[in-house]
Parts: sequence; structure tokens; C-alpha cells
Amino acid sequence: MKRTIAIAALATAALTLTGCELGPKQSVQNGHRGTGMDTVTLKKVALAKDEVPAPPYDPPSTEGPRAGAAYQNVQVLGDVSEEQFTYTMAAITAWVAPEQGCNYCHNPENMASDEVYTKVVARKMLQMTRNINTNWDKHVGTTGVTCWTCHRGNAIPANYWALPEPGKKGIIGNLHGQNAPIAATAYSSLPNASLAIYLSGDAKSDKSIRVVSDGMHPTAANKLTTMETEPQYALMMHLSQSLGVNCTYCHNAQAFKPWNISTPQRATAWYGLRMVRDVNGQYISPLKDAFPAHRKGPMGDPFKVSCATCHQGKAKPMGGYKMAKDYPALWGAPTSIPAAVPAAPAVPAAAAVSTATH
Ligand code: HEC
Ligand code: HEC
Ligand code: HEC
Ligand code: HEC
Repeated sequence: MKRTIAIAALATAALTLTGCELGPKQSVQNGHRGTGMDTVTLKKVALAKDEVPAPPYDPPSTEGPRAGAAYQNVQVLGDVSEEQFTYTMAAITAWVAPEQGCNYCHNPENMASDEVYTKVVARKMLQMTRNINTNWDKHVGTTGVTCWTCHRGNAIPANYWALPEPGKKGIIGNLHGQNAPIAATAYSSLPNASLAIYLSGDAKSDKSIRVVSDGMHPTAANKLTTMETEPQYALMMHLSQSLGVNCTYCHNAQAFKPWNISTPQRATAWYGLRMVRDVNGQYISPLKDAFPAHRKGPMGDPFKVSCATCHQGKAKPMGGYKMAKDYPALWGAPTSIPAAVPAAPAVPAAAAVSTATH
């Protein structure tokens, strides 16, 4: 009897530990073994092709008259062929407003009119998507993004954030947004303003995360108090949770600070942080006046992008499926001032991993 219970308990524990996913697992750790910071993954990760809708029809010719000449009020997609333009309109309808159709953004009596606010927003989103694909290849590679990467068939993406209300006074003084667990801090009790601090501004804002000291005493290089480091750890929780990975996906278990023993993914994430600031600062925040009140947060700012908006729990959005290649209209010039993309600290080409298969 006792034995049956023990076996049942073991089986339950095994299922819980592996997230109930069947199939052979691989456990990888960047750094020395035995620190318990392994990442356990399924050996075979299928591309999430089934998560991605097929193109509305076979991609048409990129030749022929330009949309800018054919229509009255085309400000971003003017450089694409007329056929590609219509194809792109059909695709964005399926990605953003599949139920409502063209009229979600258009007055059917006058397609050139900008009277529906969603059209004004969508134009900025087209520029933003082009900016990501053209200027932020150090993050999105040749995979790129489409409206679907964030929207997935919804007018508003499932994961977004807005500026939190200022810290409420609790019985023990200002709580600084702590002990009020929200998704953005992976439901920890860390401060809830971490995304507001680190994911707004622009690509060039100096918000590098440097919390580790080399010695025991405070130095000129690091004067941070423990309290000041909390939003940075909260952000790290957000990174891990958004990608569905643990800390050693980017860091080395031996020491988290040095870049020369970190993984290549840490550099990709470094660009990601700057890309997200660029997206929020240059494209989404300026839409403040375009959005109606019910599309804004408690402080009156539009809903903004985090790592989770695209990644949705995967190390690469949609398992790395290269969906954007079918939509050349999303790769052109953004027709706005491009971000000067800074350079990340150097990481080794491959991580120093120890691997076990079972
Ligand atoms: C998510 C919003 C959105 C949806 C849905 C949408 N459009 Fe558009 N449409 C736009 C935007 C934005 C522009 C302007 C693009 C630019 O400035 O480069 C535009 C421009 C146009 C124009 C050019 C009008 C002119 O003369 O200037 C036509 C035609 C058009 N769309 C057709 C369609 C059709 C047909 C559908 C449905 C299959 C559709 N659109 C669905 C956002 C949308
Ligand atoms: C990086 C993520 C991201 C991408 C890519 C993206 N969007 Fe958005 N979009 C958002 C977020 C976040 C909001 C919510 C803003 C708010 O409501 O305050 C939004 C809102 C919108 C809205 C307003 C919907 C409403 O009902 O108020 C439209 C329209 C829209 N996006 C169209 C597009 C189109 C078209 C594309 C592709 C060309 C696109 N988006 C690409 C993140 C994204
Ligand atoms: C997806 C990659 C990624 C994951 C996962 C990640 N980090 Fe980071 N971490 C970074 C990057 C990139 C920086 C530097 C950010 C910057 O300077 O803009 C950083 C910086 C740090 C620093 C500051 C190092 C210094 O120089 O002082 C610490 C500490 C840290 N992370 C801890 C963690 C912890 C703890 C976790 C797990 C909860 C974690 N990280 C998960 C990418 C990651
Ligand atoms: C606009 C959508 C988008 C946003 C927002 C975004 N990413 Fe990504 N990210 C991607 C795409 C697309 C890829 C895949 C690139 C490829 O296939 O080479 C990727 C790849 C990565 C990788 C490499 C994964 C690997 O296994 O090689 C890391 C790490 C990463 N992102 C971290 C982040 C972090 C951290 C944030 C938030 C600061 C973030 N991303 C925000 C689109 C996004």
C-alpha cells in the first residue's frame, strides 16, 4: 500500500516537473552543472505553423503600377504594387479585424478618408512594423514580424501594459507598487513599475541594467541600493516569463554579469530591450490623442508593447516560423526617421552549455 502511494507520488512529481508534456527531454545549462539552473525542454520542438494563418491568396506580383499613384491617400504603402496593396489589406483584415472586416478601419463610402481612428492607428502600425523588420534585424533576423505576431486575430494584442497609477499609501507607508502582483512582474511581489521604467523612452535612452558590483563596498561605478535594484530583477522575471525560459537561457550560472560567458541570446535580448523602447516611444505613445479613452491605461497613455506581446511564452515568437516573408509590403522603408541602432556588448558565438538527455 505504502509502495503504491510512493510510486503514485513519484509519477505525479515527474509529471509536474516536466509540465505534463510527454516525450524525450533535454536539460541544458549554461555554465557549470549542479547549480539547479537547468532548462528542461522537449527534444523536438515543432514549428508552430498551425498557429499562423495562411496568406489570403497566393502572393501576387510586385510589378505594375504603384499603390501611391493608384489611390488618393496612401502614405506608407505608396511604394508597393497595386496588387500587393490589395493583398496586404486582405491580410491585415484577417490579422486584426477578422470579424469586422474592412469597415473596422474604413468608411465604405470613402476608402481614402481617415475619419475612423483605427485607420490612423493602423497606418502608424504599418510604419512600426516596417521599422522593426528593416532597422531591428539584429533582433528579428530574417524572420521579421507581421501584425499577426502581436495581434493574433484580435483588435488588441493579448499582452500589453500601461503606466501604473502612482504608489498608493499603505498602512506601512508608500508601497512603491510592491506586493501587488501583476502579470508584468511574473506575479512576484517586486515593484510593478519595472516595465514603465525600462520599456519606455527611446532606443538611445541610457537604461542599461548594471546591478552587480565587483567588490564588497559601494564604488563610483555602482552606487545602487538594494531597493533600487528591485525593478531590474522584476524586469528579468518579465524577460524569462515572456520567453518561457529561465535565467541561464541568457546568463551563465557561474556569474550573471560578465558578457563574455553569457549566451548569444543575451545580446539578442539586449537589442530587444532597445527595440521595444523604440516601438513604444516613437510609434505607440505618440498615438495618445488618436485612441479613445477605453483603449488607454489609468494614466491616459495607450497600451504598450512588452517582450510578451510578440513572444507569448516562446523563445522565438510562433516557434520561429518565418511568416513575414510572404508579405513584402511589410519590409519597405518606414517613411519616418529610422532609429540609430546601438551595438550590444560582445558575447561568445556559442554558449558554454552542459547538456544531459533523458
Ligand atoms: C486594420 C485597419 C485596416 C483594415 C481592416 C483595412 N484597411 Fe484599407 N487601409 C488602411 C490604412 C492604414 C490605409 C492607408 C495606408 C497608407 O497610408 O499607406 C488603407 C488604405 C486603403 C485603400 C486606399 C484608399 C485611398 O484611395 O487612399 C484602399 C482601397 C483600402 N485600404 C482597401 C481596403 C479593403 C478592401 C479592406 C478589406 C479587405 C481594407 N482596406 C481593410 C487600414 C485598413
Ligand atoms: C509589436 C506589436 C504590434 C504589432 C507588430 C502591431 N501592432 Fe497593432 N497594436 C499593438 C498594441 C499594443 C495595440 C494596443 C494599443 C492601445 O489600444 O492602446 C495595437 C492596436 C492596434 C489597432 C487599434 C485597435 C483598436 O480597436 O483600438 C489597430 C487598428 C492596429 N493595432 C493595427 C495593426 C496593424 C494593421 C499592424 C500591422 C501592420 C499592427 N497593428 C502591428 C501592437 C502591435
Ligand atoms: C532573454 C535573456 C535574459 C534572461 C532570460 C534573463 N536575463 Fe538578466 N540580463 C539580460 C540582459 C540583456 C541584461 C543587460 C540589460 C541591459 O543592460 O540593457 C541583463 C542583466 C542582468 C543583470 C545585471 C548584470 C550587471 O551587469 O550588473 C542581472 C543581475 C540579471 N540580468 C539577472 C537575471 C535573472 C536573475 C534572471 C532570471 C530571473 C535573468 N537575468 C534572466 C538578459 C536576460
Ligand atoms: C516585435 C516583436 C518582438 C518583440 C516585442 C520582442 N521580440 Fe524577441 N524576437 C522576435 C522575433 C521575430 C525573434 C526571432 C528572430 C529569429 O528568428 O532570428 C526573436 C528572438 C528573440 C531571442 C532569440 C531567441 C533564440 O532562441 O535565439 C531572444 C533572446 C529574444 N527575442 C528576447 C526578447 C526580449 C527580452 C524582448 C523584450 C525586451 C523581446 N525579445 C521582444 C520578436 C520580438
